Amino acid sequence: PVSLLLDCDTGIDDALALAYLCSQPHVELVAVSCTPGNVDADQVARNNLALLELSGRPEVPVAIGARAPLEIPLVTTPETHGPQGIGYAELPEPQGNVHPGDAVELWIEAARARPGELTALLTAPLTNFALALRAEPRLPELLRGVVIMGGSYYYQGNTTPTAEWNTHVDPHAAAEVFAAFSGLPGEKLPVVCALETTERIEMRPEHVEALAREAGCTAPEPVLPGQPKGQRSTASNPLVRHLSDMLRFYFEFHRDYDQGYIAHIHDYFAAAVAAGTVRYGTRTATVHVETAASRLFGTTVADYRGLWGEAPNARIVSGNHPAEAFDELIRSLGTLART
Ligand code: BDR
Ligand code: CA
Repeated sequence: PVSLLLDCDTGIDDALALAYLCSQPHVELVAVSCTPGNVDADQVARNNLALLELSGRPEVPVAIGARAPLEIPLVTTPETHGPQGIGYAELPEPQGNVHPGDAVELWIEAARARPGELTALLTAPLTNFALALRAEPRLPELLRGVVIMGGSYYYQGNTTPTAEWNTHVDPHAAAEVFAAFSGLPGEKLPVVCALETTERIEMRPEHVEALAREAGCTAPEPVLPGQPKGQRSTASNPLVRHLSDMLRFYFEFHRDYDQGYIAHIHDYFAAAVAAGTVRYGTRTATVHVETAASRLFGTTVADYRGLWGEAPNARIVSGNHPAEAFDELIRSLGTLART
């Protein structure tokens, strides 16, 4: 089994990641913590509770930690993920409540109780994880592994010309996290899924159609391009309907930003890496996060050749297999939707 502590800022691609993890019988979701990013922490928590209930895992604790980045004000992204972080979807009001304790404490307790067993999956700004490392510097040893969605190492950003969103929202947290792993043995270094690989996981309307078919829905999904904006799914299956309503918004966003009628589902790829269900390669590197106030604020730089003479602090994913990742996603979500 793979036992995960997920920290996310749900978010359309976070939602796909969460639903995917719920579809995996070998994945134990130990806790889901909420970082402010795409939306504020309370909205992240509502989204996570509703999605876990919809995905048959209402018992997984959902906790809130930080309410803002470490040193700068929170900037959310309603234009990318919608005002509630879930595009056009209207998720049911959750029945369960947010865990009463602090997410950072919950993580530390869980890691101490099960040393060497838990993998941290981080699909949001690294604020909560940086706070957890401050409170428990042994966290890198206590965890089995760390998988991060963040950064861009080919110097094409999605937030500024060079910076990726998660890192740009809280670069100070990202810098602290990479510093905490400096010089640790290779297998302890975080596996980093950056834009150069996550943007290859390009979801298209055909994938939504395939998911609907896989889930046994008969009516076509109104996700095709060329239709008026904002059309809603009529799928009889609630999971398919909500995911389709999220993805339509995400397709429209990407098209509005000249990327075509597609959606980059970054966080799903990171989830599949953490679950061990897709193949990928990595390259060891020393990562620097720019925190000085300049046009490069939030930019990540990787030294793959040791030119800085500093110990490595990351393993950056260097190759992936998009078709395989989509087969895995559609088959898994189809099965989840049918159950
Ligand atoms: C990351 O930014 C967020 O908007 C997505 O959820 C993903 O985690 C991609 O840059
Ligand atoms: Ca995210």
